[in-house]
Amino acid sequence: MVPTPLTVRAPAKVNLHLGVGDVRPDGFHELVTVFQALSLHDDVTLVPSDALSLHVTGEGARDVPTDPTNLAARAVVALAERYGRDPNMRIDIAKGIPVAGGMAGGSADAAAALLGAATLWGLEIGRDELDEVAATLGSDVPFSLHGHTALGTGRGERLIPALARGEFHWTLALAREGLSTPAVYRELDRLREAGDPPRAGSPDALLAAVASGDPHRLAPLLANDLQAAALSLQPGLRRTLRAGMEAGALAGIVSGSGPTCAFLCASADDAVDVGTELAGAGVCRTVRVASGPVPGATVVP
Ligand code: C5P
Repeated sequence: MVPTPLTVRAPAKVNLHLGVGDVRPDGFHELVTVFQALSLHDDVTLVPSDALSLHVTGEGARDVPTDPTNLAARAVVALAERYGRDPNMRIDIAKGIPVAGGMAGGSADAAAALLGAATLWGLEIGRDELDEVAATLGSDVPFSLHGHTALGTGRGERLIPALARGEFHWTLALAREGLSTPAVYRELDRLREAGDPPRAGSPDALLAAVASGDPHRLAPLLANDLQAAALSLQPGLRRTLRAGMEAGALAGIVSGSGPTCAFLCASADDAVDVGTELAGAGVCRTVRVASGPVPGATVVP
């Protein structure tokens, strides 16, 4: 019998608030962050095979490793080792999330692969156990499993769901070159040694704004401590942020460690208009519109 492939869809994220604390003894930074999952996604298709192999298509596919270091492959291997299963399968990743863009594309693939393998193998494990494996793969992987809007603490892996009313509309400006997350954190450490860049503070007001569903209230509260570091490494992003504001966005922010810039807009129509202007201004490689929150990794029926 030919095995039936299983597809799992997993969302991109934007950090509405990203407060970075000091570096911990394990090298990670203590975070207080508010994630929102967006309607930009990767699809990961798994089918049992006689070897573990990876095939990547779509947005930025050329820059995704297809060797065992790929996070989706590591996810399948980690789950197989823990539950005594055969990790051999073909993994097809259709990328919609920018690679090295600060939108948790690799984490989405890992979350999708975890859920997909657990489903294929019929593992009767709870969300907590899946979260545990997810956290060993990367700080953002648990959020990619859960989706919606959530407060993240620790490395970002400890999650509390947050209330969000309605739908928020975003325009995303994808950059020509990616940024390495560790390099951006290192740059922030360097900036903090040299001076005292402002810190994001408490996310309480932002959480209330998300719960109100009012993008005008949310816009001035978006905050990202990694933005200064991303701008320091890619100064051209200042122009991108300015162009989005001039195009009518309510607010613009670097997404996570960047370099994708995320613009909060007043409506879906406004998001399309901002995208059109940004595309014409030549300040980014390409644009996408998206809305959030959306669910985390989900098996595609
Ligand atoms: O957990 P993840 O593999 O996504 O982290 C990638 C890198 O980002 C880490 O190796 C670390 O350099 C940095 N990081 C950090 N503090 C966090 C999350 C990530 O310093 N809370």
